[in-house]
Amino acid sequence: MRIDLITLFPEMCEMVLGTSILGKAREKGIAELQALNFRDYANNKHHSVDDTPYGGGGGMVLKPEPIFAAVEDLLHKVYTDPETGRTVSGEPHTAPSGRPPRIILMCPQGRRYNQAIAEELAQESHLIFICGHYEGYDERIREHLVTDELSIGDYVLTGGELAALTVVDSVVRLQPGALGNETSAVTDSFSTGLLEYPHYTRPPEFRGWKVPDMLLSGHHANIEQWRREQALRRTLERRPDLLEQAELTDKDLRMLER
Ligand code: ADE
Repeated sequence: MRIDLITLFPEMCEMVLGTSILGKAREKGIAELQALNFRDYANNKHHSVDDTPYGGGGGMVLKPEPIFAAVEDLLHKVYTDPETGRTVSGEPHTAPSGRPPRIILMCPQGRRYNQAIAEELAQESHLIFICGHYEGYDERIREHLVTDELSIGDYVLTGGELAALTVVDSVVRLQPGALGNETSAVTDSFSTGLLEYPHYTRPPEFRGWKVPDMLLSGHHANIEQWRREQALRRTLERRPDLLEQAELTDKDLRMLER
């Protein structure tokens, strides 16, 4: 898949995109990750990307022109064959997979991000994130450019970069081959609809605190059942709201009643 971040701070994004699992996914060609500075598309002498709001009031508003120009230039470069001048798919800005890119605006007013949305976005072939700073975006960006608006929670960040990078991280790790251990994305919290069961490693006793005997028993079926019960209990204690959506068996329900 390809992911582009449209930002005023590409170096901030690069640092994350080049590190750890994301850096490896990039090296292995699993995800093509780029950050593009929309200030380079400002069509005025001072390269300003924001202006005062019509109607007065404090703060600054991101102008539409540089953001539209950055996205349109990117779409042109990605989807046009330089030899023929034709789009790759025959349709404007449609990936060879047949799907147009998702153009995602990061803002506190967006749809609240969660693992189900991560799984949905992980199926796409191209995501473009618009990361703003300052007071807000000119409304025409929302109305005529973006396909989605996402928020990572009910708090306000100084900019969209950390929010976009959060989404990018959670989407890239779902790509086949991105994690060393293929099973780890399948069993993690939320993918099963439940919080994860507790994990232990050596030593079997640390400062007098012992690893539960069950995990040392070598009895795989019993260990699976113990883990399921722990995941159910932890979810009931910490996030009972998740149980309403989770697929629970009769056995799970009996365990919860105990
Ligand atoms: N930009 C500022 N705050 C944000 C949030 N909570 N989610 C997404 N983008 C943001």
